[in-house]
Amino acid sequence: MKARKIKDRIYWMGSLDWDRRLFDALVPLPDGTSYNAYLIEGSEKTVLIDSVDLPMADEFLSQLEGIPRIDYVISQHAEQDHSGTIPQVLEKFPDAKLISTPKAKGMLMDLLQIPEDVFITVKDGEALSLGDKTLKFIYAPWVHWPETMVTYLEEDKILFSCDFFGSHIAATDLYVTDEGRVYEAAKRYYAEIMMPFRNIIKKNLDKLAPYDIEIIAPSHGQLYPNPSFIIDAYHDWITASPKNTVVIPYVSMHESTKLMVDHLVSALVERGVRVEQFNLGVTDIGKLAMALVDAATIVIGTPTFLAGPHPYAAYGAFLANALRPKAKFLSIIGSYGWGGKTVETLAGMIPNLKVEVIDPVLCKGVPSEDAFKALDDLADAIAEKHKEQDFT
Ligand code: FEO
Repeated sequence: MKARKIKDRIYWMGSLDWDRRLFDALVPLPDGTSYNAYLIEGSEKTVLIDSVDLPMADEFLSQLEGIPRIDYVISQHAEQDHSGTIPQVLEKFPDAKLISTPKAKGMLMDLLQIPEDVFITVKDGEALSLGDKTLKFIYAPWVHWPETMVTYLEEDKILFSCDFFGSHIAATDLYVTDEGRVYEAAKRYYAEIMMPFRNIIKKNLDKLAPYDIEIIAPSHGQLYPNPSFIIDAYHDWITASPKNTVVIPYVSMHESTKLMVDHLVSALVERGVRVEQFNLGVTDIGKLAMALVDAATIVIGTPTFLAGPHPYAAYGAFLANALRPKAKFLSIIGSYGWGGKTVETLAGMIPNLKVEVIDPVLCKGVPSEDAFKALDDLADAIAEKHKEQDFT
C-alpha cells in the first residue's frame, strides 16, 4: 500500500498485516494488525515517526522512495514492531538523527544494535521545530514499556500515541468508521497489554488532558477523528467500579467440574449476577482478558490433576495474576478424585490480585446434592458482596 495523506504534509505510512494471528507468541489477533508510521514535512525539517515490524520492511521502504530527505526519525517505543525497520531507514537516510527518550536509547542499542552517535535524546516536554510545524515530546511511561513517549503536533493538533490507544485491526479505512468494532479491539488491546499498568496509565491520561487533540494517530489500528471516544473508554476501563459480573475460567476432564460450573452459572443468574464463562481448553484468551477488565469476581473451576490444579487452570490463574484486573473477590470450585492441594497451589499463584477469597467449593467425584447446595451458598455470597458494593 502507498503512503496516505492525513493533512497537508502529514502522511500515514506503514503496513496492514492482515494475516498475523498471534503477537508475542501469546496474544490472539483475530483481525490482524497494522504498524503505523507517520511522515511529517515541515517547512525546514522532515521527520518520520516510528517504523514497522521488520518482515514488512520492503513495503515500508518503498513508501519512502522519492522522499528527498529525513532529518529525524522519532522512536516513541523500542519494541520491534515499531522500531524493527529503523536501522534500514537510517541506512537509507544516513544524515538522519534518531530521537528517543534516554531509556529508549539504551533499549534500541540493545535490541537493534544502533550506534550511539546517531541518537538525540529528548526531555519530557521538549519541543522540536520543523519550521512551520512543532512537535512536543511527552513522556508516557508504561504504555506499555518503561521507555515510551508520545508526540504532539501542535499546529495540527495531532497526538501520535504509539501503542497507547492502539488496537489490533487491519483495515483500509484510515480513520475509525465503526466505533463498535474498534471499541472491542481497543478493549482487547488494553486488557492484554495495558491493564497491568493501569494506575500509571491513569497518570498519563491526566497528563494529556490539557492538550487540545483533534486526531489521535496510534501505531496500531485506525486513527481516531473523535479522540474522546477512546480517551473516555480508557477512563472507564481504568477507573470505573467493577461490574456486577463473575468471570469463570474453567477446565473439566470428566464433566464433574463442568456440572459445578453450569450449576453456579445458573445460580448466579437467578440472583441477578452477570456471568462470563470460558473453557480454558478452547477459549480465545483475549476474550477472557477483556472480561477481566470489568469483572468484580473471578471463580476458577478446575479438577485436581496430579495433586494440583489442571495446567490450563494454572495458566488461567497465572494470566489473571499477570494482568492485575480490578476484581475484588475470587473463589475456586472443582472436583477431585482422592486428594491434593489444588486450592493452596492456585491461591499461591495470584499474589498480585487484591481480592477477598470466598470459601472454595470442592467435591469428591461427581457433584452431590451437598456440593450443589454449597455452590448455591457461594452464589448467595457473591451476589450479596456485589450488592454491598453497589456493583451494577
Ligand atoms: Fe506495538 Fe509495544 O509494540
